[in-house]
Amino acid sequence: MRPLTRRQLLALGAVGAGATAAGGAGLWQTTGTGSGYTGGEDLTEPQVLASRDRVLELDLTAAPARVRVGGREASVQAFNGSLPGPTLRVRAGDTIRVTMRNGLQAPTNLHVHGLHVSPQGNSDNPFVSIDPGASFDYEFTLPEDHPPGTYWYHPHRHGHVAGQVAAGLYGAIVVEDPDPVPVTRERVMVVSDLSLDADGNLAEVSQMQQMMGREGQIVMVNGQLRPQLRAAPGERERWRIINACPSRYLRLALDGQQLRLLSRDLGRLPVPEDVTEVVLAPGNRVELLVETRDGSSTLTAAPVDRGSMDAMMGGAMGGDNQSGGGPVDLLTLAVSGSAGSDPVPVPEGRPLRDLRNEPVTAARTLDFAMGMNANMSGGMGMGMGSGQGTMMAFTINGRKFDPERVDETAAAGTVEEWTLTNSSPMDHPIHLHVWPMQIVQDGDRDVTRPQWQDVVNVPARSQVKVRVAFDDFAGRTVFHCHILDHEDQGMMATVQAR
Ligand code: C2O
Ligand code: CU
Ligand code: CU
Repeated sequence: MRPLTRRQLLALGAVGAGATAAGGAGLWQTTGTGSGYTGGEDLTEPQVLASRDRVLELDLTAAPARVRVGGREASVQAFNGSLPGPTLRVRAGDTIRVTMRNGLQAPTNLHVHGLHVSPQGNSDNPFVSIDPGASFDYEFTLPEDHPPGTYWYHPHRHGHVAGQVAAGLYGAIVVEDPDPVPVTRERVMVVSDLSLDADGNLAEVSQMQQMMGREGQIVMVNGQLRPQLRAAPGERERWRIINACPSRYLRLALDGQQLRLLSRDLGRLPVPEDVTEVVLAPGNRVELLVETRDGSSTLTAAPVDRGSMDAMMGGAMGGDNQSGGGPVDLLTLAVSGSAGSDPVPVPEGRPLRDLRNEPVTAARTLDFAMGMNANMSGGMGMGMGSGQGTMMAFTINGRKFDPERVDETAAAGTVEEWTLTNSSPMDHPIHLHVWPMQIVQDGDRDVTRPQWQDVVNVPARSQVKVRVAFDDFAGRTVFHCHILDHEDQGMMATVQAR
């Protein structure tokens, strides 16, 4: 591949004057500590809207909003004026009816990430587009056997997804567990990042940041900077953590406390696993059981190396594509007081389905690639924000997203094996709507226990094999890279189940 010229790099904002942060440690100095901001308030949670008599009806308005972030006024975009939007709590078998209003200047829509619901009509249909000023009535019906877990919602209008999520449009969805886990309390934590300029407006995003996948300057939990929470020793809490950052990976640790992984993306593990850290790609969720011990602990997000574009750029970019500096402090847990009695053991969950025991009817290979756009040798000042105009092409099997095209066709009711290959020098977290994926092979390593996720990281120059059971629903939907800038630039394709 031909390295970029200095002129091209200048136009990208990668070198020289106008560069955002071309420092020694890497291109992005996203330390997340946010100098000029204050933290330390008590953690709050968004308003909870719960279903009654098997129905949850709500209005969601996506619109510009003024909020306070880390002691500063910020102009963001939010659902119903709050960052994050309300938390929806439902059960398997419930119906969610949402009147979605678009108060933005750009088209938008709504996606219920991870929910196993129909992709058609006014259900979880990613091809819907709601114009500014217009509204749309969604209806999502969860099957009776829908897995419990922590899910989330965000806009999914192609070309605008990264910008709208980065601006603040996201919220949590909890599908209640039919076999409750005994805990002292539960917390929902939506982790997101944000970049503001000196006036508190959303910062401009360069083409280079879009190609790398933008990472915000500050990392928040429920829209708060470094909030605090308190507990007594000997308690058990269930933390539902969502990575709502458009591109940032989170390597989470909470030193000094006992952590067990209860769920990754969907369902729950039959037996929770002891962990010391857990990595969330964009879009991933985890549920952690925190068994508290005396002392003060900080939930940190250490930088994750998700590859670099250096090789493609002739070494001119300098550094890795990882957040500069050390770990980001997300929140502090202060544990003190008199110890309670030890919590009762966690009852075993239901065994997970294992698609390795089921016949596979089709196999496909999907290659996620990055290359130079052929038509980019001339002018460089093209379309910011639309995500269509950067000089890098993001493709799946050599093609950019076309909403009119059917890329893959699967027979409803069958199991397929998909080999996700990544021929590029950056990681891509791959997400399929509607149907979760069981990881059967990660690089050369066989995954021996059933591991289900709806976002699967495919490391740079590597491959991952997954199996998908195309159960329950017919219709056309999408799969894509959940680095949302990559998705907006074309790394998305369609799959039709029929
Ligand atoms: Cu979280 Cu297709 O999205
Ligand atoms: Cu999704
Ligand atoms: Cu990607």
